[in-house]
Amino acid sequence: MAKVILDVDTGVDDAVAIILALNSPELEVMGITTVAGNVNVERATENTLKIVEFMGRNTPVFPGMGRPLWGELREDRESHGESGLGDAILPSPKLKPEACHAMDFVLQSIDVWGKELTIVATGPLTNLAMTILKEPQVALKVGRIISMGGYFGLTPYGRGNVLPFSEFNVFTDPLAADIVYHSGIEVIATGLDVTMNPRAQVDGQTYEEIGKMKTRNALLFTSLLGRLLVKEGAISLHDPLALSYAISSSILKTKRCTVEVELQGELTRGQTVVLEEDTERGINVAFDVDGEQFLSLIHERVLWR
Ligand code: BDR
Ligand code: CA
Repeated sequence: MAKVILDVDTGVDDAVAIILALNSPELEVMGITTVAGNVNVERATENTLKIVEFMGRNTPVFPGMGRPLWGELREDRESHGESGLGDAILPSPKLKPEACHAMDFVLQSIDVWGKELTIVATGPLTNLAMTILKEPQVALKVGRIISMGGYFGLTPYGRGNVLPFSEFNVFTDPLAADIVYHSGIEVIATGLDVTMNPRAQVDGQTYEEIGKMKTRNALLFTSLLGRLLVKEGAISLHDPLALSYAISSSILKTKRCTVEVELQGELTRGQTVVLEEDTERGINVAFDVDGEQFLSLIHERVLWR
């Protein structure tokens, strides 16, 4: 079993990623840290606790950074709704967040588990960048970071979802992404190039079929993600796809690239620019996806429960 920490800004698709992680026997979820992104960090924490409680679990949740390292937070109410959980209505959680800050939990965990530990980050990379800045020598001992973020232009699929070339998580905190990408830690970047590949998306017809399943989880899934279908015509499961790589690395193909992050451009803030492909240096960028394997995981472990 791989030890993982989830770093989330829950968020409709973060919610599905949490469910997938907690239902996967390959993963031992040691804790969940939260960060400002789709919603503010208080709400991301509450939403995360709601999902953990919905699952009947008590995984500890550690609140983290409330704003990006640089720039203002721009919450995404259109895709994620006022609450951050789309149209899902879940009771206020009885579970409480931990007192320890996300960054300290991550550092303590790396100290204990080192290379055995994978961090799956499905929000802006603020918590992890802060961790690296605080204790670079400790941070470097982590196994790897699998991050949902970026649009790398390596496939015919995807496009920026905030600006023409910028993806939301990197756009929200480009400096944090830049710090993580250049940290020397093994990074796997799962960007819009793969999450918007139609083979890995849920189309309108499949969404309707899921609606007829009537399982508790299928009902939650449709109420979380209906807005994305209306907005984009198909549902990209960005965060669950990044998480799925921790379960089975054959779901994504990656290549090593050197990547720079545009920090300031008025029209390009958060653009992830690939300078060189197939290099020795840099980060691993996903460019192909086994959609069938991924969507069957979603069916077995999220919807049929
Ligand atoms: C990413 O941004 C958020 O809206 C989603 O939760 C996902 O992490 C996709 O660009
Ligand atoms: Ca997210």
